[in-house]
Amino acid sequence: MKVADVRSALLDWYDAHARALPWRTPPGAGGRPDPYRVWLSEVMLQQTTTAHAAPYFAAFTSRWPTVADLAAAADGDVMAAWAGLGYYARARNMLAGARAVVRDHGGVFPDTEAALLTLRGVGAYTAAAVAAIAFGRAANVVDGNVERVMARLFAVETAVPAARPELKRLAAMFVTDNRPGDWAQALMDLGATVCRPKSPLCNHCPVAFACEGLKTGAPERYPLKTKKAERPHRRGVAWVLRDNYDRVALVRRPDKGLLGGMLGLPTSDWSEAPDATPPVAADWQDAGAVEHVFTHFSLTLTVRVARGAGDDWIWTEEAEALAGLPTVFAKALISSSRS
Ligand code: ADE
Repeated sequence: MKVADVRSALLDWYDAHARALPWRTPPGAGGRPDPYRVWLSEVMLQQTTTAHAAPYFAAFTSRWPTVADLAAAADGDVMAAWAGLGYYARARNMLAGARAVVRDHGGVFPDTEAALLTLRGVGAYTAAAVAAIAFGRAANVVDGNVERVMARLFAVETAVPAARPELKRLAAMFVTDNRPGDWAQALMDLGATVCRPKSPLCNHCPVAFACEGLKTGAPERYPLKTKKAERPHRRGVAWVLRDNYDRVALVRRPDKGLLGGMLGLPTSDWSEAPDATPPVAADWQDAGAVEHVFTHFSLTLTVRVARGAGDDWIWTEEAEALAGLPTVFAKALISSSRS
């Protein structure tokens, strides 16, 4: 692949098709966008779409037109204006970042990736994006869109997340001093509107000529994802034995193993084919079944109830048992009371 051909094809496409977004300077307009507006938009866009962020961006910039205005705002006002954008921690970090710009940098945004990284709430992605878009630095701006475009362009057969460093290296090959902000945003726009996650519009793609993923016939397959191991399913039986005082028979589980050392109901083994022999002979009645998901398997626990006595058990008041038992047994106990 000729990197220079891909670059010029995508930048030409961006010149013609760049999305008009409120924080952007349109390509070819000359001049650079206000770093405050770029920073604010990138912080907002970390957790939401451009369409959702746009009205918040408008509200913030009309109420707090400069970083000094935002830094001087009352915390509560900023939090209230952020409501609907998600994670308040991010808003708090953003405000701390604005105050650091005022306090430590005289109200002027630092203009390198490294210095931007020192601001609260600014991570690798945001530092690169602000450096490239607001300051024309040759920074490698890699978000999920850019990863997807690279995975497809190069038909990367390693799955994410393991492929991330490789995708970042591939993206770096395209970064130059020539229009780095436009390049970053061209990739983002391509990823958002053409090289879409599910149904890419390859017939509209300006870099289809170079796309290895397209040549495979299934570009949407990229980036490959690591399959989560499927959880096995197990079955078991829990026996709810009540004495004449309505106390429940519990056992102390062995120290080793799942729920080790905790109180539990007497149960069968948990497996594909559990041994359903009851722990004592009694008039056992069916009382439904409960489902529970453990980290390494899911369980269907059939519940049986009976009256009984005996001193093999830790006889426990129902309310106390409900409060203290691990969830899976509390569920079984509730099921036994309903039937
Ligand atoms: N997503 C995050 N930052 C963006 C930007 N500057 N333009 C378009 N989409 C984005």
